[in-house]
Amino acid sequence: MGPGSGGWGRPLLTVATALMLPMKPPSSWGAQIVGGREVRPHSRPYMASLRFQGQHHCGGFVLQDRWVVSAAHCLSHRDLRKGLVVLGAHDLRAAEPTQQVFGIDAVTRHPDYHPVTHANDICLLRLNRSAVLGPAVGLLGLPRRGARPPAAGTRCRVAGWGFVSDFEELPPGLMEAEVRVLGLDVCNGSWRGLLSPAMFCTHSGDSHRRGFCSADSGGPLVCRNRAHGVVSFSGLWCGDPRTPDVYTQVSAFVAWIWDVVGRGGPQPGPLPGTARPWEGAP
Ligand SMILES: *[C@@H]1O[C@H](CO)[C@@H](O)[C@H](O)[C@H]1NC(C)=O
Ligand SMILES: *[C@@H]1O[C@H](CO)[C@@H](O)[C@H](O)[C@H]1NC(C)=O
Repeated sequence: MGPGSGGWGRPLLTVATALMLPMKPPSSWGAQIVGGREVRPHSRPYMASLRFQGQHHCGGFVLQDRWVVSAAHCLSHRDLRKGLVVLGAHDLRAAEPTQQVFGIDAVTRHPDYHPVTHANDICLLRLNRSAVLGPAVGLLGLPRRGARPPAAGTRCRVAGWGFVSDFEELPPGLMEAEVRVLGLDVCNGSWRGLLSPAMFCTHSGDSHRRGFCSADSGGPLVCRNRAHGVVSFSGLWCGDPRTPDVYTQVSAFVAWIWDVVGRGGPQPGPLPGTARPWEGAP
C-alpha cells in the first residue's frame, strides 16, 4: 500500500475504485512508472519529491526557486508540518550531495479541487527558503496560458519515483516513460464519461503498458519541454489501456498559478484558499 492510503484508496486510484473495476490482489500491486526506464541522473532537474514521515509520497516540479507545482490530492489527510520537498535527487535512498531539502511554508490547493472527481487537481507549494538553482536543480516552464492540450498522438514524457513494490521499495533512480496523448473523447469513453474539463489523457500508443503508477502523482507530463500535465489519476492496474492515465491540464491553470505566485511575495499575508502548515492540520 502507498503511505497513508486506507483500503483501496490510493490517491490516484479513487475514480477507478468508484467504478468497481476488477481488483487484483494487493500482492501484485504497484510498479514504478510502468514500461519506462531509469533516466540519466539529474537530467530532469525540475523533478521534486514530496515526502511525509521520511517516505516519498508524490512528485512535483520546480516552477520558481520558491515554488513547486504538484497535485492537490497529494496533500489530502497530510500534516504539512511534517512534509518535506527534496530537489536535486536521483536515487532517493542515497545521501546525494546534489539533494536540497526544504520545509513547506504554505500550500495553495486549487479552490475548486474536487476530491471525488479529481477536477482541478493541482496545488502550489511554497518552499521555506529559495532553492539554489544549478545543474541538478532547475525550472520547468508552463505551457501558454489557455493553450489546448497537445494534440492526440503527441509524444510526451512522464517521470517519477513511484514505488516498485507494495513494500514501498523505491526504484533505483528517477524513472521515465514515453507516452502519447490520447484523444479526450476516447479517454472519456474509457472512463465512462467521468472526466471533467481541464483534464487530458495519455496511453502507450502500442501494445505495451506504459504510464504512471502509485506515488508518481503530482509529477509533470512534459511535452515539448513544458509541463503540460500534472499526474492525477489512473486505474487500479497501472498502465491498463482500459483506464488511461489522466492528467490535470496545466494550461487551464496558468493564470491561477501566476496569480498565486505573484501574491506570494517575500512577506505575504495568508492567501485565500491557502492553508498554512499549522492550520487545519490533524
Ligand atoms: C526549512 O525547513 C526545514 C525542514 O523542516 C528545516 O530544517 C529548515 O531549518 C527550515 N529553514 C528555514 C530557513 O526555515
Ligand atoms: C465526458 O463525458 C460526459 C458524458 O458524456 C460528459 O458529461 C462530460 O462533459 C465529458 N467530459 C469531457 C471533459 O468532455
